[in-house]
Amino acid sequence: MTTTMTQLDQLASTLRAAAAAYYDGTEELMTDAAYDDGLEQLRTAIATDPAVTGRYDDLLTQVAAGQSTGGEVTHPTRMGSLDKVVGLDAVTAFVTGIPGPVAIEPKLDGLAIRAQYDTDGYLALVATRGDGSTGDDITRAARNLRIQGLPSRIDPAYGIREVRGEVYCADADFLHAQTVRQGLGGAAFVNSRNAAAGILRKGDTAYADILSFAAYGAELTNPPTSGLYDETLQVLSHADIATAAGLLLGMLHTVPSGRENLADVLAQVEALDAARDNIGFPIDGIVLKADAAADRMRLGEGDRAPRWAVAYKYEAEAAVTKVVAITTAVGRTGRLAIRIEVEPVFVGGTTVTFATGHNVAWVLERDVRVGDTVTIKRANDVIPYVVSVDTGARPADSAPWTPPATDPNGGEWDKSTLLWRSVDPSLSVGATLRYAVSRDALDVEGMGTEVVDALVETGLVTRLPDLWNLTLTDLADLPLAKARRLGEKNATKILAELDKARTAPWARVITALGLRMTGRTMSRRLAAAFGSVEDLLAASVADLAAVDGIGEVKAQVIYDELRARLLDGTEQRPHAVDALRAAGVTLGAAAPSADAADLPLAGMSVVVSGSVPGYTRTTVAELIEAKGGRASSSVSATTSLLVSEPSTSSKYTRATKLGVRIVTPAEFLDMVG
Ligand code: IVH
Repeated sequence: MTTTMTQLDQLASTLRAAAAAYYDGTEELMTDAAYDDGLEQLRTAIATDPAVTGRYDDLLTQVAAGQSTGGEVTHPTRMGSLDKVVGLDAVTAFVTGIPGPVAIEPKLDGLAIRAQYDTDGYLALVATRGDGSTGDDITRAARNLRIQGLPSRIDPAYGIREVRGEVYCADADFLHAQTVRQGLGGAAFVNSRNAAAGILRKGDTAYADILSFAAYGAELTNPPTSGLYDETLQVLSHADIATAAGLLLGMLHTVPSGRENLADVLAQVEALDAARDNIGFPIDGIVLKADAAADRMRLGEGDRAPRWAVAYKYEAEAAVTKVVAITTAVGRTGRLAIRIEVEPVFVGGTTVTFATGHNVAWVLERDVRVGDTVTIKRANDVIPYVVSVDTGARPADSAPWTPPATDPNGGEWDKSTLLWRSVDPSLSVGATLRYAVSRDALDVEGMGTEVVDALVETGLVTRLPDLWNLTLTDLADLPLAKARRLGEKNATKILAELDKARTAPWARVITALGLRMTGRTMSRRLAAAFGSVEDLLAASVADLAAVDGIGEVKAQVIYDELRARLLDGTEQRPHAVDALRAAGVTLGAAAPSADAADLPLAGMSVVVSGSVPGYTRTTVAELIEAKGGRASSSVSATTSLLVSEPSTSSKYTRATKLGVRIVTPAEFLDMVG
């Protein structure tokens, strides 16, 4: 059955309506599959009937709705990366090792993609690089966005089957992207690469015509007989596909022989660096490639990257500006963050308004002051940093910066590492969690500061109960510094530890809550006085004040803190106490099982000096309390027992003087045994 022109026209108008509704974002008139079918019918008709040519081009070229449904794509050959060379000596070594021609290209700062054209010349598939072997199908997004330099239809006669290259956001388009972004109510893009990634991921038509593509590789059905990469690129140019080399308009982009034209290559490396601010598109280096197939073959491929190409990265871009303020804040991880606010300046493709003050020592060493003229640098994705201070230009009345003496609640900083931290749980999620998983509280082995910080930074954990919602993948994939991941082995271990923590003694759970003014000793007293979370939450301020060591003031703080920490729910999320219960955490028992008066340490006040083998300070105190005693830290007339080896310590002398009974740690263990 042949399809008549009217039928085709009808089909086309149905498809147009579906596309319009889709673009509107109002409704889905056709399923993706039906839309694809429709388009296919039009294509077949065009292929068989020349009279139809051009009639439905609007649909076939701009169309987006109903195209690829996304998902993963396996790359036919690996999308590798480039080896970086450091220093011009390494550039020289590479270039002089190539007898044949060398191609010179900008190293575009965007995202690598792979695009396929079908035999009719239609853009059939666009995929991200992903991990190099599989990427995401972004065909639909790419079509919606009308990426410059990546036509949706090319002349099939060129036999271009696949192109690989970079999607980037040119300088002028970056400003446009920011305007659109603002219009849509989003936060500004951090930099042009970030913009390219964000826009490509979304594929929102509001960002159409903003991104660009430039190719640096291709598969042709008939590769040029010369075997020259440069000639392949020329074929692409004829087909209106932009190429990375082609962006260096009026600049040198090949030399006849690496061995003989080193000086020209080096001059070009320098020239591009110098021109960087004015070329109009983002680059972070220069790429040098053997141009001839024979040279490429001889040099071969490495594991990750080809040996026939190298990338030479340029230094981060620098700019001079003025410090307007130095501010500090405690972040969610408890770290003291120092921001050096500067007068806005354009550097590295974006407007910078602040630089990082790394840490206190760093700022003090450089003596950065408000009013100073500073040079800041910005490399890719890196927070801008101050490289130098022009002390000559310093105003006469400037004063040195001083770090905040205490945290915002008046607490002391933990200065054990270069990065000062607040240990106040009420100031940061990180501080609460670090405290909660520490040895004195839930004792979750393997969950150190780095892991806790990563959990907080990724937003996986925003309060204590979230710890028990973590999955193996959450933990295994947790990004750590230097592009490491936590890994499955560590993740499994931590999960087992968390499982163990579900049955931690009630006193430790109280400790883990990180109530202000409530350390492990006070937590144990609270646990002894209020055997369960129900009892604890039912206690009035007066009830709390009746506990040894808790005065009126402390009682009120603890009362408020308990509510802030445990009854913190909203309509969307349950109270922490309910979340803890749901996670299976034991929140105290109704009543102690043994008869307290029968316990070996019943009614005794016990002081431990030195260590008891097999116990930490916390576990020995728990032992004392489990055996009916009360752990205390100082010897007084009311002390019933001192556990200590004979010594000259003040505790020992004092106990002897007061006639307090003294036992050795071994005797003590026998006693409680
Ligand atoms: S060639 C086998 N040429 O840099 C890899 N890559 O570090 C072939 N890039 O993933 C890549 N400009 O995203 C090549 N002129 C250029 C490039 C370029 C930017 C990116 C690309 C790649 C990464 C490698």
